[in-house]
Amino acid sequence: MQTAKKKLFIKTWGCQMNEYDSSRMADVLSPLGYETVDAPESADMMILNTCHIREKATDKVFSELGRMREHKEAKEARGGKMLIAVAGCVAQAEGDLIARRAPYVDMVFGPQTYHQLPQMVMKATGERVVNVDFPAESKFDFLPGEKGRQGAAAFLSVQEGCDKFWTFCVVPYTRGSEYSRPVQKIVDDAKRLRDTGAKEITLLGQNVNAYHGEGRDGKTWGLGKLIAALACINGIARIRYMTSHPRDMDDELIEAHKNIEKLMPFMHLPVQSGSDKILNDMNRGHTAEKYLAIIEKLRRARPDIALSSDFIIGFPGETDEDFERTADLVRTVKFASAYSFKFSARPGTPAAAMKNQIHETIKDERLQILQTLLTEQQKSFNFRYIGKEAPILFDRAGGQPGQLHGRTPWNQALHAEGPERLLGSLETVLITGATSNSLTGQIVTQERVVKRA
Ligand code: SAH
Ligand code: F3S
Repeated sequence: MQTAKKKLFIKTWGCQMNEYDSSRMADVLSPLGYETVDAPESADMMILNTCHIREKATDKVFSELGRMREHKEAKEARGGKMLIAVAGCVAQAEGDLIARRAPYVDMVFGPQTYHQLPQMVMKATGERVVNVDFPAESKFDFLPGEKGRQGAAAFLSVQEGCDKFWTFCVVPYTRGSEYSRPVQKIVDDAKRLRDTGAKEITLLGQNVNAYHGEGRDGKTWGLGKLIAALACINGIARIRYMTSHPRDMDDELIEAHKNIEKLMPFMHLPVQSGSDKILNDMNRGHTAEKYLAIIEKLRRARPDIALSSDFIIGFPGETDEDFERTADLVRTVKFASAYSFKFSARPGTPAAAMKNQIHETIKDERLQILQTLLTEQQKSFNFRYIGKEAPILFDRAGGQPGQLHGRTPWNQALHAEGPERLLGSLETVLITGATSNSLTGQIVTQERVVKRA
């Protein structure tokens, strides 16, 4: 029997993990006849997949919900129906508030329960559902296999949650404690992704290098060993992983950067601050020196490795001198890319209750200085590649007609003119231009094909 098609609209905020969850929610709902659409107006179901990491997260959700409510009412006026769901980390943290303040919302559920979506949808057609449990079973045991609709550069969740409790961070409260999927399940998913065209796989986890899953031998495997197993899969040409923590950077993983050619020379390793006092107050469990020692080791293992990081500016108690230490660390490492944020007091976290909060204008000034420095570094990193050839995996169409978007091994975005049939393939490209954000280039392999023809 053919199920009638229903339209599903998902709006996603936040990290790659949330993007990934959204695509898995679509997988879970597809047996019920739901197909994803790009516009909310006529949707039968709307999911807001939310992020709680920084300021105004909850406000944004409520203002979006206001718009969704209008769509719902307009549809109901036409005699139709629309389910509204709030998922993700704001749902987990503020589930009751959402249920109270937005009575037109039909479902509120956290990141650990979306494998129960079909049951929730059934129930919600009759009554409201609020599900912010951390169920004893793992959602991964109940999710269907990867449908592999992600294209040439795919994401694969291997680890989730966080036990580290940095004093600034909400993730342990929204995602629950650390969990690692067994190796064999990840390998099976990777093969499914490969079979539908994935050439690159990015392993995802809130603390991906804290991965400690059950190996094929029944023993616990770390991320380095997992990557080695995935590198044996024919057809998978590139492997990446994110996001890592300095404390979980073990030698096995560093060695993997030396020995596994498919592991791309790019590493996102958030440091947050260069001041030991601030690192200590953040409960990061390492010093600036320790971080620099890891960077040294990584560069010895893989000299061309591109390094990226996250920074929090204006953590409580940050003095000019502490900030200067952060700038020093940046000058020492020379990052290829980075994200920097003003500290945002998150309700319920220890840092939010700390005295000596930093004034917004000081945060603004420091952020400006740091971002100028980081942008310069990013620009000079990209400029170094002009005139060189690099293998590019073209993963989607570029912004302009006739243009393709791809990535270098060092994770730089690259645009080049090229025919659409090259989407999903690895081509050699001569890099001809650079900005702080991206590169431009000319496809070289393609030219050879044309000449031969
Ligand atoms: N593990 C997540 C990290 C998400 S948080 C992932 O997989 O991407 C991304 C970055 O946000 C952190 O590294 C930190 O720099 C920043 N961040 C987290 N909490 C913050 C807060 N309270 N205020 C400002 N920035 C924060
Ligand atoms: Fe945001 Fe949750 Fe990711 S808080 S950053 S969506 S883990």
